[in-house]
Amino acid sequence: MKKSLDEIHKIRIEKKKELDLRTNINSNTVEKHILVCHGTGCTSSKSEEILENFKNIIKEKNIQNVRVIKTGCFGLCAKGPIVIIRPEDTFYAMVTPDDCEEIINTHIIEGKIVERLLCKDIDREKGKKIR
Ligand code: FES
Repeated sequence: MKKSLDEIHKIRIEKKKELDLRTNINSNTVEKHILVCHGTGCTSSKSEEILENFKNIIKEKNIQNVRVIKTGCFGLCAKGPIVIIRPEDTFYAMVTPDDCEEIINTHIIEGKIVERLLCKDIDREKGKKIR
């Protein structure tokens, strides 16, 4: 389908906001992205089920402004499945499908880190930053 210049401009502005949220931990937004690794290692450890669980819980609880996004490998395969929450840049490691409910309730709804799942191999300050 052919798009007008105005439509392309709107898409550009929308995508720029999304990219800003993923690359700028100081992004001024109420939106959150839950990034679920779908590299080979994480996929073999049920990341597809994790992604579906997040989507289902968000839908059931009617949570707004949270998107669940499938990504490529983050390079921490031995710690997978990896889930990263942006813009605060919190890395969760060895996440299981059963952990999704706790991440949604504690991190997304209450705004607190799920300490037991925090990836210990990255910058703790960066990994713990939350709004
Ligand atoms: S496959 Fe998930 S971090 Fe590499």
